[in-house]
Amino acid sequence: DKGGHKHFMAKEIAEQPMVISDLLQAYLSEDGHSIDLPEGGIDFNKIDRLTMVACGTAFYACLTAKYWFEQLAGIPVEVDIASEFRYREPPVAGRTTAVFVSQSGETADTLAALRYCEGRADSILSVVNVPESSIARESDLALPIYAGAEIGVASTKAFTCQLTVLLLLALKAAETKGRLSAEELTDKLSLLRGVPGAINQVLEADQTFRAATRLLAESDNALFLGRGLMFPLAYEGALKLKEISYIHAEAYASGELKHGPIALIDKKMPVVVMAPKDQLFDKTVSNMQEVMARGGKVLLITDREGAAEAGDGVCQSLIMPEIDPILTPILYALPAQLLAYHTAVAKGTDVDQPRNLAKSVTVE
Ligand code: F6R
Repeated sequence: DKGGHKHFMAKEIAEQPMVISDLLQAYLSEDGHSIDLPEGGIDFNKIDRLTMVACGTAFYACLTAKYWFEQLAGIPVEVDIASEFRYREPPVAGRTTAVFVSQSGETADTLAALRYCEGRADSILSVVNVPESSIARESDLALPIYAGAEIGVASTKAFTCQLTVLLLLALKAAETKGRLSAEELTDKLSLLRGVPGAINQVLEADQTFRAATRLLAESDNALFLGRGLMFPLAYEGALKLKEISYIHAEAYASGELKHGPIALIDKKMPVVVMAPKDQLFDKTVSNMQEVMARGGKVLLITDREGAAEAGDGVCQSLIMPEIDPILTPILYALPAQLLAYHTAVAKGTDVDQPRNLAKSVTVE
């Protein structure tokens, strides 16, 4: 049942405010001041390092979480693609907790990576959507993301729910390590409870995203750029676009532009820049200007302040609600999804069942 939507993907995008609210309700204490992990929880004082392993979109959720864990909690994080990790014989040294993120909980490479860590890592944690899945069952602790069934092959609500659970974990770690006071935690959690409302605001501006996709739908290629927390998001935006619209899209950390990809820039190359007005904004803007100086057409996704500061020359700006900087990945997942969705609809591709792809990749 598509609930009145044209595609499951549209339905699942629209469900995000609701599923994230449910998720927060499940993980937050009744007064909303603390984070309750399931029985057998995790003691972050006993963890020196996290090794996070996943595939595809779940891998980008892990990349985002690296920024959160390192900045908020001071815990070093290694992130790996499961198909690489499993055959490299990586040393899993010291007090390492291995974290596996998977919507289906059945991805063959991720499961094999988990089994490699059995007896090597101190403990095995998973972040899954399907609680009875193999990955959940073989973990010491499985954290559900409560996204509900995801039918569209391109992952949407599972991604934002994975991000939300991983952010809760990072905040919990920061509190345990004494890097966040009880008051600061309460404050962050109350901002987090504002995310579903902010997502609704983005969904209400859906028409603007549809209009913005003309540039992409007419192109054979696209580049996505982002810095800091927007770097993994750029990858997610490029992956969504190539999966469902079959447009060749690549993502780079903005700072990498001049180390090669800038050679691709001409007037036929649309460049999606994801840049909320945060500490790194000015750096991203200067990368963006390098693109524009070479005729590249920039689609800037930012907030009101960012749009005002970006100045002239941007082909199109999409204005996002203002939000606390640590929460931007959850909110900016929406434009990544909506741009891909509307481009695919404009091109007439099979949004829910893109060619060559399977929802659950149970063979390597
Ligand atoms: C992208 C997508 C895939 C999955 C990947 C991992 O939209 O859906 O990249 O994220 O196949 O799947 P799970 O999370 O089930 O392990």
